Amino acid sequence: MRISVIGSGYVGLITGLCLADLGNEVVCIDVIESKVETINRGQSPIFEEGIDELLIRCLASERFRATIDISTVAQTDITFICVGTPSNPDGTWNIDHVRSASKAVGKALGQKSSDHVVVLKSTVIPMTCETVVLPILEAASGRRQGHGLGVAVNPEFLREGTAISDFMNPDRVVIGSGDHLSSALLRELYAPLGRPIVEVPLATAEMIKVASNAFLATKISFVNEVGNICKDMGIDFRSVAEGMGPDPRIGPLFLNAGAGFGGSCFPKDVRGIAAEAHRRGLEPLILDAVLEVNDRQPLRMVEMLARSLDINGVQVAVLGLAFKPGTDDVRESRSIPVVTKLLERGAKVVAHDYQAIEGFRKLFPEITYYDCPEDCVAEADAVLIMTAWPGYSRPEMYDDKLVIDGRGVTRSKNYEGICW
Ligand code: UGA
Repeated sequence: MRISVIGSGYVGLITGLCLADLGNEVVCIDVIESKVETINRGQSPIFEEGIDELLIRCLASERFRATIDISTVAQTDITFICVGTPSNPDGTWNIDHVRSASKAVGKALGQKSSDHVVVLKSTVIPMTCETVVLPILEAASGRRQGHGLGVAVNPEFLREGTAISDFMNPDRVVIGSGDHLSSALLRELYAPLGRPIVEVPLATAEMIKVASNAFLATKISFVNEVGNICKDMGIDFRSVAEGMGPDPRIGPLFLNAGAGFGGSCFPKDVRGIAAEAHRRGLEPLILDAVLEVNDRQPLRMVEMLARSLDINGVQVAVLGLAFKPGTDDVRESRSIPVVTKLLERGAKVVAHDYQAIEGFRKLFPEITYYDCPEDCVAEADAVLIMTAWPGYSRPEMYDDKLVIDGRGVTRSKNYEGICW
């Protein structure tokens, strides 16, 4: 199949490369020329396990390339819209890029006579495809849905760090289809994966994505709250989780209590659906609490530190700046509120991460960064572990220093866990 992908960010690039690797002919279209050049040179603009080899393989196969030329859409059968939908100040999703991409794709379809399917992959408030994307596409292309134009929603469930294997081995493929054309094409496209397909109406597919992320975020805030109670009662939550997980109704995954969730998806998607509920006059009690627990959780680590020493003037090593291990992404990292609070309270902050120093330096140029965790810890009075990088687990690294572990990675001599 001939595929165009609008947006070469995280989701767009992984989707484009994986579809090319499955034998399709793919062109990724982006407005940033330097990014397009980087991709075509064989250099990935994002850090992701296995992406460099995949990009080189796809370029060599000549089934994959990037361009800034939107008219290329007309030479393909199907277009995926994978543009960013950041949070508005009120928490709702900002769909400006979805609107502009839809308009550009619609216009490009004016130069094509055969059928075309447009698939929305970006995370949006349910109903966006039907009430925003489709009318824009129809107006710009002069086509009608079901008459030369198909539309669909196909959310992604990729996790940073394991995105390629998540794409190739999905638990399910969700297809929100508005017409036979899009349904048939997407079923054919995903058939080689041999995974279950859930086919639903457009808005249902949009809600499956949002509800899945909101549920997982709820699970994390729930275990964090119970973990806090456990800590107060002298019970190790890690053992509690081990005893809960074997029940298939609960499941062993996402029971890691700690400093809370970050990243580009969970905080944004919970805020988005909660804001929509408020807008509708509903009271999303659970979703509001999920966010509040998550805001407070990292600050508990600073409170724990303050119970052991006077933070003003001491040197604190923050280990882990990425929102989780295996990525260089610092978006909504729980280290951000922690470093902000430590600086406010007069600490001298030194920090380490295996991948995310450059990203974090843009936010906090004033703190000192180390390339090696041992050097970072060496002169510090106390250590806060914020990201579960395996390199932070060695107890000998810390000797008898005070370590406040927000991720449950170490059992050094003088450590205190956030929920154990
Ligand atoms: C998440 C979802 O897991 C993906 O299914 C989804 O496709 C993606 O968002 C998205 O919407 O694009 P991701 O943000 O890459 O993926 O990261 P996760 O591995 O889910 O972790 C998110 C955060 O939760 C991290 O900060 C992590 O440390 C935290 N977490 C995770 C916990 O605190 N405890 C856990 O048990 C699990």
